[in-house]
Order: sequence, then C-alpha cells, then structure tokens
Amino acid sequence: MGELDGRVVVVTGGGIGLGKAFSRGFAAGGAQVVVADIAEEEAKTIAKEIDGLAVRVDVSSESDTQAMAKAAHDKYGRIDVLINNASLWTALLPMKPWTEIPVEEWDRVMAVNVKGYLLAARAVFPYMKEQGWGRIINLSSNTALSGVPGILHYVTSKGAALGFTRALAREIGGDGITVNAITPGLTSTEGVKAHYSEEMLESRVTARSIQRIQQPDDLVGAVMFLASDQAGFITGQVLNIDGGQIMY
Ligand SMILES: NC(=O)c1ccc[n+]([C@@H]2O[C@H](COP(=O)([O-])OP(=O)(O)OC[C@H]3O[C@@H](n4cnc5c(N)ncnc54)[C@H](O)[C@@H]3O)[C@@H](O)[C@H]2O)c1
Repeated sequence: MGELDGRVVVVTGGGIGLGKAFSRGFAAGGAQVVVADIAEEEAKTIAKEIDGLAVRVDVSSESDTQAMAKAAHDKYGRIDVLINNASLWTALLPMKPWTEIPVEEWDRVMAVNVKGYLLAARAVFPYMKEQGWGRIINLSSNTALSGVPGILHYVTSKGAALGFTRALAREIGGDGITVNAITPGLTSTEGVKAHYSEEMLESRVTARSIQRIQQPDDLVGAVMFLASDQAGFITGQVLNIDGGQIMY
C-alpha cells in the first residue's frame, strides 16, 4: 500500500507542464487524480493515460470551480488534496516592461492566478471539512522572492499566493486542513522550452547550488510529501525548490 492509496487529488492545470507532472506523480503514488484544466484536450489525454478524471474548468469562474469539485466528489466520493497550480505563466511570455502591460491583461492574471486559487479552495473546502482532513498546496514561484522584472503582474500574483497560503492556513487549520506553498525556480516545462532558449536556461544554472536545469520531476516528491499524512503538522509554510538558488 502506498501513502497516497485511496486519496483523491484535484490538480488544476493538470494537463500541461508542472501540473501534468503532478497528475502523473500522484497517480503513480496510488491516488485517484482529477485533471482539471481549461485545456480540455490535454486534460483528457493525461486523464486517459493515468486512469483519472478529466474536468474542463476555468478557475476564474465560481460556477466552473464548484462544478469541478462536484464532479470530483460525484466520481470518487471524497476530495483529499487540492493542487492550486493553474495559472497564466508561459502564456505571458515573452516578458515586457511593466509600463506596457495592458490593464486588461493585469486583471486577467489576477483573476486566474489569485481569484482562481480562492475559488478552487472554496469549492473543495466543504468536502475536506466534512472529512476533517485536507491538503491544499499552492504553486507560487521563486520570482516572488527575488523580484524578477518583465512579468510584474505574474510576480505580483505569485506574491499574493504566499499571503493567501499563510492566512488561509490559520483560517482552516482547525478543520484538519493544511495549506502550504512551494516556490519553484525556472523549470524546463514544454511552455518554458518554447519561450526560452537552451542557452537562457543554462545561464540560470550558475546561480544555483545544484548546477543543472530544473526539471518538473524535481517538484513532484516535495508536493507529494506535503500532501501526505506525515506532513500533517506542517501548515502555512513556503518551501523553496530551486536547486539552492535562493536560500529562504
Ligand atoms: N515552469 C516554471 O518555471 C515555474 C516556475 C515557478 C512557478 N511555476 C508555477 O507552476 C505552475 C505551473 O506552471 P507551468 O510552467 O506548468 O505553466 P504552464 O503555463 O505551462 O501551464 C499552466 C496550466 O494552467 C492551465 N490554465 C491556464 N489558465 C487556466 C484557467 N483559467 N483555468 C484552468 N486552467 C488554466 C493551462 O491550461 C496549463 O495547463 C504555475 O502556477 C506557475 O506559476 C512555474
């Protein structure tokens, strides 16, 4: 029996990039995985591969996130873990000066990356509360720690994910639910590879203690640990995973 056998895990943005790695990792660990993504075809492809459930969701929509949680509960009878991963990130590349970010684009980033985390958490919360057990893991970014220029809306939203994590942890700790965040460094997903050259990715390597390109699988074990029983007394915390670039 694996640690995650029988657990039901909702991964938003679970069909692409890091979310895809989380979907596969949790499935390999014995969990039932709900691959929830606005990219419906990609969600279906991964769900088929791991024998999970694909749900089309726009996390900025309250009705969509409510329907996502209901579909997960209808299918599996519980919801144990939410990975708040869906964000506008590679869609915002290439970078641009902060004075040139259209206000509409700023608003959409906040709607997906900030409000989306709230709505997904609110949607799964009643099920977790009823069970008296839950794990919410929020994807922030080490750009919020170091202040990377060129994506001001994105970095601002990832800073918000840290405040959200800490305050929500205090709100729902009494319900047996932990809330934690991870701050990955630049990771070689398909979206990142499409926008950054190999040379650019290599240039980030020298800033790290472990001097190689960061891969999606470098994050999976940490997220699975935070979702486990063993991590039950860890909440409101931020785990930086970037090969020792920032020592936080
Ligand atoms: N890749 C990196 O270098 C890196 C580094 C630090 C943090 N992160 C964080 O990790 C997470 C995943 O990053 P990624 O590199 O896989 O990003 P990505 O851009 O490759 O994938 C984003 C995912 O979110 C989905 N999505 C976008 N808008 C959505 C919406 N409105 N509703 C539902 N799903 C939506 C996309 O379809 C996709 O599946 C993000 O939260 C990102 O901020 C990534």
